[in-house]
Amino acid sequence: MKLSGYFLVRLTVLLAVTFTVNACPPADRSALLAFKKQLSEPYLGIFNTWTGTDCCNGWYGISCDPETERVADISLRGESEDPIFEKAGRSGYMTGSLSPSLCQLDRLTTLVVADWKDISSEIPACLTSLPNLRIIDLVGNKISGHIPADIGKLSRLTVLNLANNQISGSIPTSIVNLNSLMHLDLSSNKLDGTIPSDVSKLSMMSRALLSRNQLTGSIPVSLSKIYRLADLDLSMNQITGTIPAEFGSMRVLSTLNLDSNQLSGEIPTSLLSNSGLNILNLSRNSLEGCLPDVFGPKTYFTALDLSYNNLKGSIPKSMSSANYIGHLDLSHNHLCGSIPPGSPFDHLDASSFANNDCLCRSPL
Ligand SMILES: *[C@@H]1O[C@H](CO)[C@@H](O)[C@H](O)[C@H]1NC(C)=O
Repeated sequence: MKLSGYFLVRLTVLLAVTFTVNACPPADRSALLAFKKQLSEPYLGIFNTWTGTDCCNGWYGISCDPETERVADISLRGESEDPIFEKAGRSGYMTGSLSPSLCQLDRLTTLVVADWKDISSEIPACLTSLPNLRIIDLVGNKISGHIPADIGKLSRLTVLNLANNQISGSIPTSIVNLNSLMHLDLSSNKLDGTIPSDVSKLSMMSRALLSRNQLTGSIPVSLSKIYRLADLDLSMNQITGTIPAEFGSMRVLSTLNLDSNQLSGEIPTSLLSNSGLNILNLSRNSLEGCLPDVFGPKTYFTALDLSYNNLKGSIPKSMSSANYIGHLDLSHNHLCGSIPPGSPFDHLDASSFANNDCLCRSPL
């Protein structure tokens, strides 16, 4: 009895030692090999490095958690400064699909398969069962299908970048449960439907880029409750309704692009007097009313583009007291009257004011 107990202890110790020495468990290795099998990367040969048993060492783009020795990161970027790319003298190109075998890597924290141009599968729905995922970056491929409906399960996700793909369907309502999400980029896809109205639950979000889709509905007012939001881009969609006046009191917001939508109503006074806002593009909408006279020494716009709307009235005199307006475009509106003299206007040329009803004075 005593003796067999002793051997059992010895055996356990032996197993533990063997296990920690052997990085890359066979199950992780075979999941990676199944992932590789669905892909073809003919020019650089990055997958030629995926040989041998220790996937934690020397496998291009793979790294493991030093403690658990499980695969933690897959980081494959088609645009890279890696010598392998320099030698080939080209950026990456890859065809094939993202195998659901990825989902067997249950300690995965980073999944970057970006800028390979031609990976054309759907996003494996089972990815939402990987509790440690922090980064999903699949930008710049030909990924189609929908965003998994239960994406909101990924409570540790900080970056979701699916830009420049062919993803369709609507933005899943569960997305608002990603309470660690800081960076959301769904630009240049085929998404339709509306932006979830309870989007303010994404309280950590600092960048929300949804441009170049087919989104409809109005701009949720709750976006204005996301304190950290610095960069909001909803441009080139089919968004209707008015611009929430609450955007004017957002303290961190510095870039707001709402251009090329179907927005109507007036430009909120508070928006133009929000001195933190440095880039504002409202071009190509149906905005009307007069430009509010709220500019002043705190006004600092690197770009203010209000072109192609239905603005009427005159250019407010206070605009000439602005601290800085780098690029100003008021063209293609119904403005009238004289362009005020003053520094922000000195460096602008006539095109900034072209195609209005009856503007006059320099530079016209
Ligand atoms: C504003 O948006 C319009 C239309 O989408 C675009 O053509 C223009 O270049 C943008 N303006 C600036 C300053 O980026």
